[in-house]
Amino acid sequence: MCGIVGYVGERPALDVVVEGLARLEYRGYDSAGVAVLADGALATAKRAGKLVNLREALAEQTLPAGTLGMGHTRWATHGAPNDRNAHPHTDCGGNVAVIHNGIIENFAALRAELEEGGHKLRSDTDTEAVAHMLEDELASTGDLAEAMRKVCRRLEGAFTLVAVHAGDDDLVVGARRNSPLVVGVGDGENFLASDVAAFIAHTRDAIELGQDQVVELRKAGVTVTDLEGRPAETKAYHVDWDVSAAEKGGYDYFMLKEIAEQPRAVADTLLGRIGADGRLTLDEMRISDRELREVDKIIIVACGTSYHAGLIAKYAIEHWAGLPCEVELASEFRYRDPILSRTTLVIAISQSGETMDALMAVRHAREQHAKLLGICNVNGSTLPRECDGVLYTHAGPEIAVASTKAFLTQLVAVYLIALYIAQVRGTKFGDEVFAMIQLLAQMPEKVDEVLGTMEPVRELARSLAGEKSVLFLGRHVGFPVALEGALKLKELAYMHAEGFAAGELKHGPIALIEPGLPVIVVVPPRSRDVLHDKIVSNIQEIRARGARTIVIAEEGDTSVEPYADTLIGVPAVPTLFQPLVTTVPLQVFACELATAKGHDVDQPRNLAKSVTVE
Ligand code: M6R
Repeated sequence: MCGIVGYVGERPALDVVVEGLARLEYRGYDSAGVAVLADGALATAKRAGKLVNLREALAEQTLPAGTLGMGHTRWATHGAPNDRNAHPHTDCGGNVAVIHNGIIENFAALRAELEEGGHKLRSDTDTEAVAHMLEDELASTGDLAEAMRKVCRRLEGAFTLVAVHAGDDDLVVGARRNSPLVVGVGDGENFLASDVAAFIAHTRDAIELGQDQVVELRKAGVTVTDLEGRPAETKAYHVDWDVSAAEKGGYDYFMLKEIAEQPRAVADTLLGRIGADGRLTLDEMRISDRELREVDKIIIVACGTSYHAGLIAKYAIEHWAGLPCEVELASEFRYRDPILSRTTLVIAISQSGETMDALMAVRHAREQHAKLLGICNVNGSTLPRECDGVLYTHAGPEIAVASTKAFLTQLVAVYLIALYIAQVRGTKFGDEVFAMIQLLAQMPEKVDEVLGTMEPVRELARSLAGEKSVLFLGRHVGFPVALEGALKLKELAYMHAEGFAAGELKHGPIALIEPGLPVIVVVPPRSRDVLHDKIVSNIQEIRARGARTIVIAEEGDTSVEPYADTLIGVPAVPTLFQPLVTTVPLQVFACELATAKGHDVDQPRNLAKSVTVE
């Protein structure tokens, strides 16, 4: 949510900032604004709607050609998404400008106090209070960084704040708590951003900021302190992808590019993790084999698509690692009283590593002394820092809001973890684990095979663009795949879509079946006799009631042919790996159907790529 860019250097700040905002568009937003400082004067421009509106405003209102500036894309929380509430917000005199991501929970009290003190607040936002608080602190300290530290000590909630002050045209100040902010280190220029994509065209050297840290950005360098002004420890890193990875590379949408990248992404998740002897080595896991042997329960916490990866993980962990495994929506987890102990392993799955609900769930588990393992795609994000160990998925940047390659690589990560635990605990014979690892290594090819056969799926999607509703059914690991197929269709095509466990059909959902209703059914491999036969019966039951059956089944599975109005074949793979091949047609289906309806699949309405507020 909200994109933030800050810049100080030698180039025209406006160009750098607007270009950075464009690269952060995927985060989701409904208004945008910039501030530029030149010759002691601060100028701002902001507009409701997409960046194109801001660009129009900038064409009408020429901002000074300063070399220090900041920009913001706002996803509205407090106040409607209009020009007035767009960021930056300024103090009474227009000398301080602030942009913000997150929610300041005590803003009502702060606002009342400011108004009582004579400040005139002009917007409905929580952010504006910070501009006026900085104004007061600056009046006594004259130092923007010190003012920011003092203000942050009074704030409750989650925030990334970036501020500039007319009195210093070589200083951008940033602060963060529970919300992302990274520093890009250049030569004679430095950057701040919600994510490295904003400055990757200029530098791949970054600094991770910790909780409650304040950064002073000047042309000549970067200083980081804690909220008391003491020098703070930070972590510098080099971003392992370049600007081309953050561009569409000839595809109309990032989502199409990311779907196509899946064989490579799956291969990259496996890279370096299978030793020459066929055994797994998970170095960054930082949870010792002894600790893993002591684990007696696993709890997985995640949101959205990552939660669906968690549901599939449960099957793999229970089957291979022989441990009880619960999967919980991160947003619910900390509001229950989950029973955790030192021998519980909590696995948090998050592509972005910044999802607030996932971070809060991890903290809740930490308080109860559980071991914490993160599965994450974004290096330098908060989640890995909060966990004992991490398994990076190495999928490369995922820009489209709908998760695709992140999901497949999360699946590979959970398979690796489940097989690794089996290897360490000896819950399966060594040769069984070895055989599974060999099969897992073949998955990039299998995913590639599926991608080569998607034209009929695209045709089908276009033919269903006028439908009101689509149902998805699955059993075993096919059930979370059905949930994922429905989520993709909802978020991209804005259509009613629901996923069900096929066994639940007769407990209610079958009442939804009416003539012509498209129902997509994920069929388990033929080798799973009982499961397979049960779902074939389910297909017959819905077809008898007039449903249009779209069946995804293993190639050569002739038993489903008589009951399938449309049959989509996928390569035969072991049952637990089947989601890697059955999810791909559902991604392609949702993407094509939404495109046929004229939707922007990269930035679906109302959605943000990473949900950084609760
Ligand atoms: O970054 P995370 O994996 O924590 O994000 C979790 C969900 O917000 C995310 O998977 C969301 O459901 C996707 N837009 C679905 O495509």
